[in-house]
Amino acid sequence: MDRIRIVGGNALNGIIPISGAKNAALPLMIASLLTDDTLTLENVPHLADVEQLIRILGNHGADISVNGRRERQSEGYSRTIHFTSRTIVDTTAPYELVSRMRASFWVIGPLLAREGRARVSLPGGCAIGTRPVDLFIEALTALGAKIEIDGGYVEATAPKGGLIGTHYTFPKVSVGATHVTMMAATLARGVTVIGNAAQEPEVQDLARCLNAMGAKISGAGTPTITIEGVSQLSGARHRVLPDRIETGTYAMAVAMTGGDVLLEGTDAALLETALEAIRRSGAEITSTESGIRVVRNGGDIKPVDVVTDPFPGFPTDLQAQFMGLMAKSSGVSHITETIFENRFMHVQELARLGAKISLSGQTAKIEGVERLRGAPVMATDLRASVSLVIAGLAAEGETLVSRVYHLDRGFERLEEKLTRCGAIVERVSE
Ligand code: UD1
Repeated sequence: MDRIRIVGGNALNGIIPISGAKNAALPLMIASLLTDDTLTLENVPHLADVEQLIRILGNHGADISVNGRRERQSEGYSRTIHFTSRTIVDTTAPYELVSRMRASFWVIGPLLAREGRARVSLPGGCAIGTRPVDLFIEALTALGAKIEIDGGYVEATAPKGGLIGTHYTFPKVSVGATHVTMMAATLARGVTVIGNAAQEPEVQDLARCLNAMGAKISGAGTPTITIEGVSQLSGARHRVLPDRIETGTYAMAVAMTGGDVLLEGTDAALLETALEAIRRSGAEITSTESGIRVVRNGGDIKPVDVVTDPFPGFPTDLQAQFMGLMAKSSGVSHITETIFENRFMHVQELARLGAKISLSGQTAKIEGVERLRGAPVMATDLRASVSLVIAGLAAEGETLVSRVYHLDRGFERLEEKLTRCGAIVERVSE
């Protein structure tokens, strides 16, 4: 099994091209099931999760072709992928496919809206909490679906004539349930109003793409989304927005190691709250024409408290990385996790590098140390794994991160991007 070997201590200097957002690409790919026409997505990152979803969509009957010609963006690459689901050949998403990635559960929305039925295995994904599906079930039930759970599968059936527009307010903000409800409502009869919707940029990106396909959605990016149902959707061409989590991760890496890096092809508006926290820690961050420039030259890393929250709050997907940064701050900071109840598994691994962190309920207290020292560590989930990589970059000596398949789910060509900026990072096979 592969491991990542890091020799820490080098500052990062250069250009890092930011990939298309994994968390936008996945729902956009799933939206292709809503039409028998071709949906073309540009700027799709090359990641294990994307490949897995390609397999899942293929199982439902999608014909998928990846452009042989790769699009050049400075030194980074992205792919253009065409998805055509002329007919849905299977409305079941089996356990073997869905259990590896939670987002694959989201096919339930388009399958139900287009075919009137779906049978989807209960999901898997990162072990960062119980992550139930009650909100999906409530919202789809509000759209008129009949739902049963049987043998580990959610079986959903639409009424004769299709789903029916509704007013539904989520009791809790959920990105996935917002995506699914929005997709399902595009083909429902009448108007659907979603209250307490997720406002994440990826929800806005999905709405833009669905509208390009002929949907009538307004309000995405606010807590209230209105969808006027249409009888069918067509194909479209859409460019996946930049990955704000990858952006924030590399910004934190520079804040930690020092240096001067241009994060190319990304946009500060996607992650203002996180960038503000990094600025307060002592890095300079400026927007340029081609992206975001992050600079830290000497000076202490200042302690900063953060609380994760749904967008526009501090993203839970940057919590582990920020904890890595705070581990080397000059004082005491607190990080509170409000989205997932079990998202502190990186704490004991960061401790192996010398971090001083104690947990009390959902809050971590981090006492900054002057030096971290390299050690063997284990990746526990997608975002936790990258926090270990960036902490390793700022640690003295060698860090070996095992279980790197977590990283491959969400970070495109991580070693290459970091190496080009002067880091010593390599993949070693055993
Ligand atoms: C998405 C992101 C993930 C990010 C998360 C929160 C993708 C592919 N994944 O995950 O990277 O960490 O948003 O920003 O976009 N919940 C329920 N019942 C439900 C659904 C969710 O209680 O039916 C809870 C979850 O357990 C969690 C909270 O709601 O505590 C938020 O989860 P949600 O926004 O749904 O996360 P995902 O969409 O799975």
